[in-house]
Amino acid sequence: MNIYLVGGAVRDRLLGLPVRERDWVVVGATPQVLIELGYRQVGRDFPVFLHPDSGEEYALARTERKAGAGHRGFEVHSDPSVTLEEDLRRRDLTVNAIAETDGGELIDPYGGQADLQTRVLRHVSEAFVEDPLRVLRVARFAAYLHHLGFEVAPDTLALMQTLSDSGELETLSAERLWSETARALDTAHPGVFLDVLGQCGAGDRLFPELRAAHKAYENLARAAAAKADVELRFAALCSGLEPAAVDALCQRLNAPRRFSELAGLWSALEQDLAAPDRLDAPGRLQVLERCDAFRRPQRFEQLLLLLALLRPGADTEFWRQALARCRSVDVAAIAATGVSGREVGARLRAEREKLLG
Ligand code: CTP
Repeated sequence: MNIYLVGGAVRDRLLGLPVRERDWVVVGATPQVLIELGYRQVGRDFPVFLHPDSGEEYALARTERKAGAGHRGFEVHSDPSVTLEEDLRRRDLTVNAIAETDGGELIDPYGGQADLQTRVLRHVSEAFVEDPLRVLRVARFAAYLHHLGFEVAPDTLALMQTLSDSGELETLSAERLWSETARALDTAHPGVFLDVLGQCGAGDRLFPELRAAHKAYENLARAAAAKADVELRFAALCSGLEPAAVDALCQRLNAPRRFSELAGLWSALEQDLAAPDRLDAPGRLQVLERCDAFRRPQRFEQLLLLLALLRPGADTEFWRQALARCRSVDVAAIAATGVSGREVGARLRAEREKLLG
């Protein structure tokens, strides 16, 4: 049995980038052998095991054959006769299809090192089109490696276009869509992700709402340049969309609640937050209430960060002070007067409004 390091760990180490996780391929073994050595089987669809000590992923060498629609529609073949070259051949990109022995020797049958040098993201084989997730992966890698000068090979882009045209993108689960999108948004040049998807016809299929977001790229670039976190980046991307469009996008992507709420609030309240002088006191209080600023001050702070990023010159301090003033109203003192709960609420609002005029 032989074990090799493969995939992103080899790629990133050769590029001098930090290695996040290590994946291993095992050639010449059976599940039984690994289980006897203490590995724990985790893959349902293919033979993947966790190392008893490191917890890292070890996959038995395998080949795959398309046998149905979508990202998971594969027939997997794995036995001790599957070679390392065969396993590397089923992979997405040449730069992800380099293996390394424990002695540091590189096995690179598909020209991955040359493509690392010339900064090309190139498919390994025509089997690339068997997995629609690869459209998103390649766009994500293009964003992640953009600062090093990487570009997608024209032939690979053509295969991505074929995948987009085939309707297979629609078979991807919302979870997959979201995890690739969130990871891409978190790179230094997230706009490249959208560019590449746009170039191969996937953008309009996956994110049709963004056609109407004229400043999506510019806003996203601003948020990324400020190293804003990924929640803010997503809200920046949705900036300028109608709340209903934000909703539709978030549902298709299955965006976690903290993302959809922030993006939805920003799209609904951007104009009001940017121009408090156009609001009267009840209007200002309503903005604070709609943001749930009293109970969720941290999220309100995220909205103010968006305001500072996307509407330079807007008065974020106004809102911080408005919230602080409203919080200075003593609810307990109002309640102590013995009035009903409903009356407490009405008086609290009235006191707060007085401070926002
Ligand atoms: N892989 C593939 N096609 C996919 C998913 C994965 O060919 N749809 C292969 C690639 O060789 C990839 C390896 O499996 O390098 C490991 O996958 P993963 O951990 O998802 O990605 P990495 O390339 O390691 O990179 P990153 O962790 O940055 O996503």
